Amino acid sequence: MKTQKVYLAPSILSADLLHLKEQVEVVSENGADFIHVDVMDGHFVPNLTFGPNMVAALKRITTLPLDVHLMIENPDLSIESYARAGADIITVHQEACTHLHRSLQLIRKQGVKAGVSVNPATSLSTLENVMGEIDLMLIMTVNPGFGGQKFIEQGLDKIARARKMIVESGHDILLEVDGGINTVTAPKAVQNGANVLVAGNAVFGKTDIGAAINEIRSQVEKVL
Ligand code: DX5
Ligand code: ZN
Repeated sequence: MKTQKVYLAPSILSADLLHLKEQVEVVSENGADFIHVDVMDGHFVPNLTFGPNMVAALKRITTLPLDVHLMIENPDLSIESYARAGADIITVHQEACTHLHRSLQLIRKQGVKAGVSVNPATSLSTLENVMGEIDLMLIMTVNPGFGGQKFIEQGLDKIARARKMIVESGHDILLEVDGGINTVTAPKAVQNGANVLVAGNAVFGKTDIGAAINEIRSQVEKVL
């Protein structure tokens, strides 16, 4: 048994966009720690979502850190725009960065926390040489592009191995998990070492958003 802080990051991908302000307020009042913003370009992933304007609009209505997940090709071209818009964390995909080290440095140069994400098929070994350049590692437990997909169970072992890598690196790195997180998978992810949980459908897909957050939290607390 150990006490550790687990952060909850509701993903607005599953929010009701015409009531986004109210929904962000509800998650905020119910103890959300970050707002997760899924940026998709229709190329890196087969879906198209938000741009820097959305980040700027959110910044005007919430003090919660904005956790911006860039599922886009050529992220270096947009990092500055998202930083200027108010992103607190910018996460790029390892698979989308030809020069990952440079992309991460570019993020930190903006005074923003740098994250890197790996798809389910991507090995953690691709991150070995950038452990000193990151503030957050994001393990995808679905193939990115859509909310409401099923958690890929093999991700649990990967989370455990990622935690080991982080401990061995000696760096202060958040371990985030994204995709299919709900009341059943959240505690499993935490047991394996995750400390930031992204949840879209399991939060915004429920009629009572506050109750949904509380239920995820109480299941997670059982394993802390
Ligand atoms: C998937 C996105 C996720 C998505 C998760 O490509 O990166 O952040 O919103 O949605 P759920 O929690 O519904 O799987
Ligand atoms: Zn995401």
